[in-house]
Amino acid sequence: MKEVLEELEIRREKARAGGGARRIETQHKRGKLTARERLELLLDGGSFEEFDMYVEHRCTEFGMEGAKVPGDGVVTGWGTINGRVVYVFAKDFTVFGGSLSEAHANKMTKVQDMALRNRAPVIGLFDAGGARIQEGVAALGGYGEVFLRNVMASGVIPQISVIMGPCAGGDVYSPAMTDFIFMVKDTSYMFVTGPDVVKTVTKEEVTAEELGGAVVHTTKSSIADGAYDNDVETLLQMRRLMDFLPESNLSGVPELPTRDPWDRLEPSLDTLIPDNPNTPYDIKELIQKVVDEGDFFEIQESYARNMVVGFGRMEGRSVGVVANQPMFLAGVLDSDASRKAARFVRFCDCFSIPLVTFVDVPGFLPGTDQEYGGLIKHGAKLLFAFTEATVPKITVITRKAYGGAYDVMSSKHIRADLNYAWPTAEIAVMGAKGAAEILYRSELDDPEKIQARIDEYQKRFANPFVAAERGYIDEVIMPQGTRMRVCRALQMLRNKHVENPWKKHDNIPL
Ligand code: HXC
Repeated sequence: MKEVLEELEIRREKARAGGGARRIETQHKRGKLTARERLELLLDGGSFEEFDMYVEHRCTEFGMEGAKVPGDGVVTGWGTINGRVVYVFAKDFTVFGGSLSEAHANKMTKVQDMALRNRAPVIGLFDAGGARIQEGVAALGGYGEVFLRNVMASGVIPQISVIMGPCAGGDVYSPAMTDFIFMVKDTSYMFVTGPDVVKTVTKEEVTAEELGGAVVHTTKSSIADGAYDNDVETLLQMRRLMDFLPESNLSGVPELPTRDPWDRLEPSLDTLIPDNPNTPYDIKELIQKVVDEGDFFEIQESYARNMVVGFGRMEGRSVGVVANQPMFLAGVLDSDASRKAARFVRFCDCFSIPLVTFVDVPGFLPGTDQEYGGLIKHGAKLLFAFTEATVPKITVITRKAYGGAYDVMSSKHIRADLNYAWPTAEIAVMGAKGAAEILYRSELDDPEKIQARIDEYQKRFANPFVAAERGYIDEVIMPQGTRMRVCRALQMLRNKHVENPWKKHDNIPL
């Protein structure tokens, strides 16, 4: 018996050693943790249960029969985050660069299948070079199986990808089909093909950081939803994120105890809006003052900063916040902001997370740049996403709600449940100056006359009451009472049930 137990321990030790001491040291020298060290930080202490640690690849090409490492480059299993079950896999870069063999793929798909069957999230920690080159089509087939499960699980269980090293091929395509991607600054990269292949094919010389570093993907491509300073910070942030997310599309919104009173007034909000309508203010100040304990988890903070999206809680229950940001491009809707918000709205709708929308938008951004880039289609994505969403939808217009952007930003007409406006709201087809200059073009030469027209338009339309008279705004509320109003509205909407007409699926303008 003793020998058998010893044999087990020896086998376990061998698997835990991964690609060996030298490669682990290299991993550490690069500022990266190993797969198992990462899982220990991600999951509640002692909760990780590993599967398949003795699995080996079956490849016999290129001398691979003599190069087997138990576990085969991926650590899989399940554990808990603050007591809730999650399924995990972590690529082990020390074993064949974390690359995917057929056996490695089977380990991943086993976890994906279990997560879907048992309705719990999957978190993947990626640090890997894609399909294992020595395995050829068997590895490609393996990736196909992983992709299939990504798609089947989409909208059923949350899928989170964390990029923690150089990732290529399937190790970027699988993350691309999950709900959120996070990166580690300076040590993680994402590209379909790495710098060497780029040089061979296009003669372009580019570093890994320039091609697919965290800065590129959080500011330019919008592939990544956020990036953090190092492995530890990233994994702690993932624990924080998971607290906002439900286990599945059927589990209901998670609820955390909070000491923040639902009826807390915030008098400072009464002076948030500057006297001059063209002076910006920070919409994040409003968000932080409204959500529980100021705890706001922002998604895509560094991309399309004219739009702010992220998770907060109201009375302990998660909400998705969507808000125009007057600090950047005056909060205008452009293609990037529309796409960013549309994807976020759809995530929230998939997982029954209510939407709270703060509106201060001067309209859509005009110009050839935007039009050539497909603004019509991208703007339509957001319009479509808000419209089809059946979760509770609460909208607060703080200042401008002009033109088509008024309709798009979760207006009454596209099935928002409660639409509030602050007394400072201006709901109109366009700003007073633009409107007067179009309507009274013949008076443009006379500054006094045109100013009088602007003042007249401002007085008549730049307020919330024209919309409120029609019932498009349910109530004009004091800014200081915004949290209380939104909390009450969410209580009232707790049992909301709306179904869209049956369809196989819709055809959102992708
Ligand atoms: C087998 C691999 C590998 C791979 C890396 N290694 N990638 N082994 N298959 N795909 C091995 C290396 O041989 C090396 O082994 C170890 O992992 C570390 O790799 P290095 O190159 O030394 O590390 P680094 O310089 O940090 O570069 C990492 C990298 C690079 C950027 C990921 O290795 C790379 O470009 N790899 C190939 C990427 C790729 O083209 N993959 C196929 C994609 S196709 P030793 O023994 O020296 O430690 C694909 C199909 C999916 O994935 C379908 C998509 C739709």
